[in-house]
Amino acid sequence: MSKISAPRGTADILPAESWKWQTVERIAREVASVYHFGEIRTPIFEHTELFHRGVGEASDIVNKEMYTFEDRGARSITLRPEGTAGVVRAAIEHSIVGQEGARAKVYYIGPNFRYERPAAGRLRQHHQFGVEAFGVAEPEQDVECILLQMDFYRRCGVRDLELQLNSLGDRESKQRYRDALVSYLTPFQAQLSEDSQRRLQSNPLRILDSKDPRDQEFCAKVPPAADSLSDKSRVHFERVQKLLTDSDVRFRVNPSLVRGFDYYTETLWEVVAGGLGAQNALGGGGRYDALVEQLGGRPTPGVGFGSGLERLLLALEGQAVSLPRQDPKLVWLVSHGTAAQEANWKLLLELRAASITADMDPSGRSVKSQFKLADREQAGYCIVVGDTELAAGSAVLKDLKSGEQSTIPRDQIVAKLKELTAR
Ligand code: HAM
Repeated sequence: MSKISAPRGTADILPAESWKWQTVERIAREVASVYHFGEIRTPIFEHTELFHRGVGEASDIVNKEMYTFEDRGARSITLRPEGTAGVVRAAIEHSIVGQEGARAKVYYIGPNFRYERPAAGRLRQHHQFGVEAFGVAEPEQDVECILLQMDFYRRCGVRDLELQLNSLGDRESKQRYRDALVSYLTPFQAQLSEDSQRRLQSNPLRILDSKDPRDQEFCAKVPPAADSLSDKSRVHFERVQKLLTDSDVRFRVNPSLVRGFDYYTETLWEVVAGGLGAQNALGGGGRYDALVEQLGGRPTPGVGFGSGLERLLLALEGQAVSLPRQDPKLVWLVSHGTAAQEANWKLLLELRAASITADMDPSGRSVKSQFKLADREQAGYCIVVGDTELAAGSAVLKDLKSGEQSTIPRDQIVAKLKELTAR
């Protein structure tokens, strides 16, 4: 029979690698909790309409990257391409936002699905750690999210980061900017890439994201978004920058940073990292003050970010940074003969009841191959039992790192190993 492989653009996370995932997820939960964000888990599929209304009809994600299908009840369902729309939907549905003055700060960790061309750091199923903060329109809330994100990277040990900032301003500023781009680019329309010619009508901001050299020449000269900002939006953006400077966070204002979602207003940001190649955005976010209303809630400001976990792990690897490893020490039970194996089986249960990570091979292999196995599984200690030990009511304890061994009474094994493995 032919083998079945994983779908293109997906990756299995195997036991040898999963400790890294557990570590970054633990750090994400720790940092979110320190900043007082509570966890939210929303479904990985939603009604397709949510993303059309939330992410935006004209965005690349909605246009060409969604996994959309009809379920057996003839409803159009989409695997979530990102986290924000579902979180906003849930916040409205459960009245987390909606009342006057309601505030909420949530975080999530989970998979997202985009039908993109797979490349290093670009998958069809990727995972994000993200946060969303609702109800506070002040720049402090933008900055709290940015600080949390940078703190996350710092705790993971990733270096060589650049925080890029831009502001699209409020709805009116954004419209003004869009008009300014269209008037600037229209005379050059025929020289733009085919995609950008289309975007000139549907989504001119996205032209700034284009990697096509035909577009880049013009993008370098477009009027900056800052020229279209209303006074209120300008003050907001200046305050964001001041708060970051006061917190010693370095940043660069990138006037052509627009990001791929229609929901953004005011502040936008992206963090890029060295050692990642072309897909160098570790994470990005921004403010979306109209989204809650757009999805049927009462007007509520919001801001947040999403950070890709695959890219974070790639950046750590590229920068040769090792994550702190906290694996429990494994105890391996080695038996010489069937009677010893039976005794060890009982001991195994006792060790596990005492929360000591322990294992053995019950297949009756030689002592030598049991030791080999212990080595391969990276055990810290072995307990060796044979007829002599059974008769004496003892066991041999071997420290596999130092090679030291000693004989200890059977009734002291659990306490002794508890002490050793806790270190
Ligand atoms: P995004 O920039 O599309 O934003 O994604 C956030 C991060 O997820 C990216 O910077 C990248 O690290 C990772 N990512 C995205 N797509 C892929 C992919 N195909 N393969 C691997 N990694 C990927 C959002 O999703 C917004 N919802 C962020 C946000 C939250 N804005 C406000 N709140």
